[in-house]
Amino acid sequence: MTTANLPDTPAEFIVLHSRNSSLVLEAHADEAPIWRYWGPRLPDGASPGVPLRDTRPLPSFNLDFDQPLTLVPTFGVGWFGQSALLAHRAGRDFAQAVTRCEVEWLAPARAVVLHLTDAVAALRLDVTLRLDEASDVLVASTRLTNLGDDALDVQWLAAATLPLPGQCDTVRSYAGQHVHEFLLQTDRLSRSLWRRESRRGRTSHDCFPGAVVTTPGATDDAGLVYGAHLAWSGNHQQTIEWLHDGQYQWQLGEWLAPGEGRLAPGASLQTPEVVATLSSAGLNGLAANFHAELRARLDWPGGAMRPRPVHLNTWEGFYFDVHPEPVKALATAAAAVGVERFVLDDGWFHGRHHDRAALGDWWPDETKFPVGLGDLITHVNDLGMEFGLWVEPEMINPDSDLYRAHPDWALQLEGRPLITARNQLVLDIARPEAADYLFDKIDALLSAHPIRYLKWDHNRDLTTAGLASGLPGYRAQVHAVYALMARLRAAHPEVEIESCSGGGGRIDFAVLRHTHRVWTSDCIDALSRVDIQRGFLQFFPPEIMGAHVGTAPAHTTGRTQSMAFRCAVALPGHLGVELDARHLSDADTRELRGWIQLYKDLRERLHGGRVWQGETADGVVWQAHGDAADELLLLAYRVRPSTHRYTPALRLPMLDATARYHVQEIAQPAGPEGVWYHTAIPHFVELRREGRACDGAWLAQAGLPLPRELAETAYIVRLRRV
Ligand code: DGJ
Repeated sequence: MTTANLPDTPAEFIVLHSRNSSLVLEAHADEAPIWRYWGPRLPDGASPGVPLRDTRPLPSFNLDFDQPLTLVPTFGVGWFGQSALLAHRAGRDFAQAVTRCEVEWLAPARAVVLHLTDAVAALRLDVTLRLDEASDVLVASTRLTNLGDDALDVQWLAAATLPLPGQCDTVRSYAGQHVHEFLLQTDRLSRSLWRRESRRGRTSHDCFPGAVVTTPGATDDAGLVYGAHLAWSGNHQQTIEWLHDGQYQWQLGEWLAPGEGRLAPGASLQTPEVVATLSSAGLNGLAANFHAELRARLDWPGGAMRPRPVHLNTWEGFYFDVHPEPVKALATAAAAVGVERFVLDDGWFHGRHHDRAALGDWWPDETKFPVGLGDLITHVNDLGMEFGLWVEPEMINPDSDLYRAHPDWALQLEGRPLITARNQLVLDIARPEAADYLFDKIDALLSAHPIRYLKWDHNRDLTTAGLASGLPGYRAQVHAVYALMARLRAAHPEVEIESCSGGGGRIDFAVLRHTHRVWTSDCIDALSRVDIQRGFLQFFPPEIMGAHVGTAPAHTTGRTQSMAFRCAVALPGHLGVELDARHLSDADTRELRGWIQLYKDLRERLHGGRVWQGETADGVVWQAHGDAADELLLLAYRVRPSTHRYTPALRLPMLDATARYHVQEIAQPAGPEGVWYHTAIPHFVELRREGRACDGAWLAQAGLPLPRELAETAYIVRLRRV
């Protein structure tokens, strides 16, 4: 028996730098590295100088040694905070402690693996940290290996444990539901534990796996803020906990169902990645970092993103009632307004006439498409559009040929009732024969036809997700869907995939390694979308944000907005149309065509650059896209009627104070409906006609005058540096 004492092994400081951030760990040979710093960039060569324990007197009635926060804080070292690992071997080896630390550099000052062994509990943790120079994004993950002779049961393994400085005071996370994703929830940090969990078996609408933590005074554009996201499409958990040295620890990881983390001798458990970053330039600075990381992950056909084609999606136009002639007529109408990709949504496959049957039977319905899909696809292609197809591979209806042939292929628990949602069950695609079946069916469609796009849906939560063995199948299911997507993409590299899950139930950095667009929400009401898109853009860039012009009144809210407002709100995303374009009035058709053309003119500027967002006290929500050193597009949405007699000017803090900008209003296709009070005011007339040069400093500090608009209108302006 040995007693714990102050370690006398020498300290090695592990320092990672990026352009605007640094992290410092203090490594000793016989324990997990101690977190010393994660914050704004330190100068090269800056060092804590002394080991942490040499700087902290022990408090009264404490353990007889000092146990600071480490990269992997574990129960067995005398750590009273949340442990990064909860595991045991039939009740034994329950208190882990790292006994050996080896440092392996992958890239100097950029990427490192910490190999941490617990010789007593017989396990190893390999923690990989990569800090990207350009984006300031830290990608961290952990691999746990069972070195013992018996199985190890893992209840919790943090993908990463991050330190947050004590001045952090607020956490912004995202709640939600079907038809309202990214519902901002703001909580004060305190000595109480802050925790969000999702056990729905997918990324979820209800609990986005990530958050933003702010320090006092932080705004959209200034102040120190931290963000982290778990790149994972299954169950998850995150915790922020106050510690007795005044800082916080933030753990993110996969929520494991009981039994799901059982590791046989020699087996490993690899966590998902945590994508974390910080910025001294407020929420917009943080968003830029996340956008850069996500853009680096996207795997585009041909290696690079092409201008995002305008979609038409048939769902809200037809629902399940898709028949060749009306669909062809819709395609013709879509092409006439400028649509470039036509997506046939649900309802096309064998026996699918409503949401009660057919999932699993992935071949064209013989009554609706007696000659298959080829004729329709040729029609769409002849109109100059690509063809896309909706599928929901991971699901099965009890009323389907597939279920009748293989009832055992559904995730289920023997002796328990099958719990349906939207009348469907979840297919156990970790079964090779089920994955092969899906691959063969989808591959046959993609091989037979020039289908360039799949809208890949997933419309229910996982409940009693038992594998054939009776073990839980949540994480196996997530890995299996990634594998199936990767296999299909390898066989059909020209095909893009959209991640949809009843709208935005599967939006995360992991599924986006295999996909290229997300269906942000089933809610296309433009007012609701302003809110949803604002949360979305905190983490994800606009070019992957499926944003459609819906019908009025909106199907999911009953609210009506003008065509101009619906188009203006969809404009900055990946634009699409989701209405029956056959029956638009001539005026609406002209206006929609005009907006689509405007999108085509602006998309290169809207996509790929930075995005700044903000909100005024007077009901204007705005976003600016582009490059402040060159050209920006400003979209200001008046979401509420003004409560001011004079509309306050809009400050644009991202502008270069030493530069001048040529400012010009972008004319909206048919002009917004309603009265435009500003039309006779000289400044607005000039901005609309030829534009004028303005001081960057003035616009940044005093602001751009805003017109006195009606509610639910947009004002779009181009600012070009002169
Ligand atoms: C849910 C999606 O979010 C919708 O866009 C549509 O594809 C339906 N599923 C089809 O069932």
